[in-house]
Amino acid sequence: MASPSRSGVFAADTDQRLEAYAESISFDSRLYRHDIRGSIAHAEMLSTVGLISSKEFQQIRDALTEIGAEIEAGKMPFRFELEDIHMHIEQALIERLGDVGRKLHTARSRNDQVSTDTRLWVRDALDRVDALLADLQRAFLSRCEADFDCILPAYTHLQRAQPVLAPHYWLAYVEKFARDRERVADCRRRVNQCSLGVAAVAGTTLPIDRDQTAAALGFVSPTANSLDTSSDRDFLIESAFVLSTIALHLSGWAEEWILWSTVEFDFIRLPQAFCTGSSIMPQKINPDTLELTRGKSARVMGNLQTLMLLVKNLPLAYNRDLQEDKPPLFDSFDTVEAMLELAAPMVRESELNREKIADRLEKGYLDATTLMEWMIRRGMPQRTAHHLVGAIVGEAMSRDVPLADLPIEVFQSHAPEIDDSVYDVLGSRNAVDAFCSYGSTAPDQVRAQVERWQTAIATA
Ligand code: ARG
Repeated sequence: MASPSRSGVFAADTDQRLEAYAESISFDSRLYRHDIRGSIAHAEMLSTVGLISSKEFQQIRDALTEIGAEIEAGKMPFRFELEDIHMHIEQALIERLGDVGRKLHTARSRNDQVSTDTRLWVRDALDRVDALLADLQRAFLSRCEADFDCILPAYTHLQRAQPVLAPHYWLAYVEKFARDRERVADCRRRVNQCSLGVAAVAGTTLPIDRDQTAAALGFVSPTANSLDTSSDRDFLIESAFVLSTIALHLSGWAEEWILWSTVEFDFIRLPQAFCTGSSIMPQKINPDTLELTRGKSARVMGNLQTLMLLVKNLPLAYNRDLQEDKPPLFDSFDTVEAMLELAAPMVRESELNREKIADRLEKGYLDATTLMEWMIRRGMPQRTAHHLVGAIVGEAMSRDVPLADLPIEVFQSHAPEIDDSVYDVLGSRNAVDAFCSYGSTAPDQVRAQVERWQTAIATA
């Protein structure tokens, strides 16, 4: 069968090799629900403005609904000569309704159709991602109460830095995913514009009502420039970027927990349901879920590059290159959704090895900066205190003891004004309690942040 997109201008049939090369049905069939929804809204508008009758609209609507059910049931055979999902659905309509079906494509092109379908699909997908992010935030937040008194070493350069409360650590990820959710919402605003009615590139001479179709499809408004819209894939690139930041956050978290689950760190026990074994080494419990999260994030970032490169040399407006946008787009959403689906139960079901963490908490001089600030509060210039505490830490290191175990004479040999009250800020527990700044790991600050998030997430 000749392709319906080949008009009477053609004198030769399509080479079959081109059909196989140009098809997109193998990946765009997943747009079918959105395509049918867009077509029903379009047909209703055509009847409102008098381009088709209301009876014709009803026939089209009912037939499209049946076609949707047929695709849903896997009963529609896909054929390369019909290229894409848009042509398959239109052809099925024509087979059912004849000339009435031939009217659906009035004042419409596949260029505005594919853009509209993709916007509808991306809008739904962004909503799914937002719900998964909210669930992951709830998973991190759910750890805060039970772990409130647990103290963890915070690292910079992967070297022990300062002590933090475990809930401060859990909330760090709640914040990261909150920014991701803001990016999702912001991106969604630009996705949520209706391309339908732009037709091929210049609009149409027919008296359509773009506001009606935009409203029927839940878009905020129709897009304002047909030439821009026909070429615009910013909304996909932004989505791929938003997904990349989510993947980056998940990948960093995965890397951290892979380290934390080693014998060397021994900070966390991962749920066995999300670990795998080794075919040769019987003792192995491997963190494959986390490794795959780290690994799959590479594809998500690669997809963003693919989409940017795809559009970078395109003159206005639609170019067939744009058909290549869907595999990376779908892959990014599929991958990030799967990553998020597994991250939430991993976070809920992992256990901190509190004893192992506590056993080694006084290693690494997590309280050194607190001691320096204690000296500053007593009037010593920061640079002087920094140097002095470094020397005291050096002495503690040579004795292989924590600062809290140094006798007062050692402190006084470095600075005679130091008295016994110095021990009030030494040791990780005292050091944590000494914090006071906004956003710090001070217990009352962390308590307030936990409560803020509990309210925010409960009311979201
Ligand atoms: N399958 C095409 C795509 O995904 C649909 C648009 C085709 N338009 C065209 N003028 N050939 O982009």
